[in-house]
Formats: sequence, structure tokens, C-alpha cells
Amino acid sequence: MSLDNKTALVTGSGRGIGRAVALKLAAAGAAVAVNDMDADSAENAAGEIRSRGGQAAAFRADITDLGQVEDMTGAVMDRFGRIDILVNNAGVPGASCLVQDTPPGAWDRTLAVNLTGVFYCCRSVLPIMIGQKSGRIVNIASLAARRISKLGGADYTASKYAVVGFSKHLAFEAAANGVTVNVVCPGATLTEMTREKTTEEFRRQVGEQVPLGRWLTPEEQADAVLFFAGDAAAMITGQVLEVEGGQLLGLAADYREDLARRVENNERNRKRF
Ligand SMILES: NC(=O)c1ccc[n+]([C@@H]2O[C@H](COP(=O)([O-])OP(=O)(O)OC[C@H]3O[C@@H](n4cnc5c(N)ncnc54)[C@H](O)[C@@H]3O)[C@@H](O)[C@H]2O)c1
Repeated sequence: MSLDNKTALVTGSGRGIGRAVALKLAAAGAAVAVNDMDADSAENAAGEIRSRGGQAAAFRADITDLGQVEDMTGAVMDRFGRIDILVNNAGVPGASCLVQDTPPGAWDRTLAVNLTGVFYCCRSVLPIMIGQKSGRIVNIASLAARRISKLGGADYTASKYAVVGFSKHLAFEAAANGVTVNVVCPGATLTEMTREKTTEEFRRQVGEQVPLGRWLTPEEQADAVLFFAGDAAAMITGQVLEVEGGQLLGLAADYREDLARRVENNERNRKRF
């Protein structure tokens, strides 16, 4: 598949799934705007793309700040002249507390990054795609939006269900302008974030609960994004693709055991705020 002459903006692509997406879109020929709120990691990912012969530039912005998002969109247009693909990947795992112990500030932050940030980036980039009469938006939700979150709390689950609803609504609105909007829902994927949030023992248990037998890689999530960004998905919009090794097919973990782990996490996490 060729993405020659296309420009992609990938949020939160300094590390993890976003970085794998940025590298894969670049390998397919797209010029990539690497966004992250961490400037060093964005520079590093953009540098990696250039060292492999691709085109990329880093754009530091916090997607929860509309002013920063609009400045970033302007800077990407100044640098590359168009935006064909927007991948809303930046996300945070949230409070990982029980609802009664979730601090309102933590709730607000999770929704601000995982939902409002997606809205801000779409709001800012859509006029460009509408002007071009074409565009691809791929939003990264989570398997949390198909059941509930395993690692996060209700703030995370709610934010990811909302991303799916937002994406379906936008898919309807944007279709008349040749813009597609689709969602990838990753299952357990080994990234810096999941490594930071879990123990080796937990990762072993989760791996065993995946019918296909292991955690996914960021590159496997990136393959799904590449599909939605390419010609093969020209007539696909408003869809949700779960990339999760069959996790939704399996039986849920033992309820009492799962709840005990959540209470234990709650005790640890509530002390952080
Ligand atoms: N890893 C998984 O198992 C998994 C499962 C389901 C969904 N997801 C989703 O996939 C996406 C990527 O997850 P990951 O595991 O690669 O996470 P990660 O923490 O490894 O990477 C996320 C990146 O987003 C950036 N970011 C965070 N807040 C930002 C903001 N406000 N503005 C700009 N950048 C910001 C971070 O600096 C980081 O580089 C997230 O939306 C996450 O919810 C991940």
C-alpha cells in the first residue's frame, strides 16, 4: 500500500502504539507529523523515521489545550501543506480507582485527554480535510469500550466508550466531504504505559487469558491503523475494529478475584492524589 504524497498527524506518537503507527505510516510513504506533549520523545521518533529514509517532523503540543492544538495544526500545514490522515492516539490510563475514590480532578484529566483532546484535534483538522474533500481519521479507543477496562477505572472506560460514540457521529457528518472516521480498539498491548502499570505476574496472567496466547505488539495495532488509512478502506466508515487476540471471545476473569485486585489497586492509587 502506498501513502506517497499523503501527510499524517499522529498524536501521542513519541512512544508506544502511536510511535509504531508513525513509523508504519512513514514506511508506507506518508510524511508524518509526530505529536507528543513530551518534546524529546517526539523528536526521537521523528528522527528515527528520518534515519530510515522517511519524512517526519516533531510537534510538541498538549492536546487538552485547544490553543496548542490549533497552533500545531497551523505548524503542520506550514511544514507539509496538507493533512490527509489524523490518528488520535494520545491517551492516559487514568486514575485506576474505584468510583467512590476517584478524585474529580483525575476524572477531569482522563476525559480531557482521552475525549476532549480527540474532539479538539478533529475540530482543528476537519476544515483542512473538508477543503481537500478527503481525509482519514482513525481514533484509538480501547477494548474498555467493548466491556470495561482491565487496568483503568470508570473514568477510562467512560472516556473510551465516548470516543466510539463521538467517532460514529462524526463519521456520519463527515462522509459528505469524503472524510472517513474509524476506530481501533486495542486489547492488551505491550507498551511503556502497560509495563509501567503492571507487574510481570499480572502480564503473565493476562497473556494467558488471550485466546491467541500473548499480548499484542504496538506494530500489530499500527497494522490496523494503516488499513483504515489506505485505499483498501476507502468505503469503510464509522466502524470499530477490535485488535485483541480474541479476548472478547474468552470468559471473564473470576469476578471476586478481579474485584479484589481492583480494591488493592484502589488502596495504592488513592494515596497518590
Ligand atoms: N497499551 C494498551 O494495552 C492499550 C490498550 C487499549 C487502548 N490503548 C490506547 O492506545 C493509546 C496509546 O497507548 P500506549 O499504551 O501506547 O500509551 P503510552 O503511554 O505508551 O503512550 C502515550 C503517549 O501519549 C502521550 N500523551 C499523553 N497525554 C498527552 C497529551 N495531553 N497531549 C499529547 N500527547 C500526550 C504520552 O506522552 C505518550 O508518549 C492510548 O489512547 C491508550 O488509551 C492502549
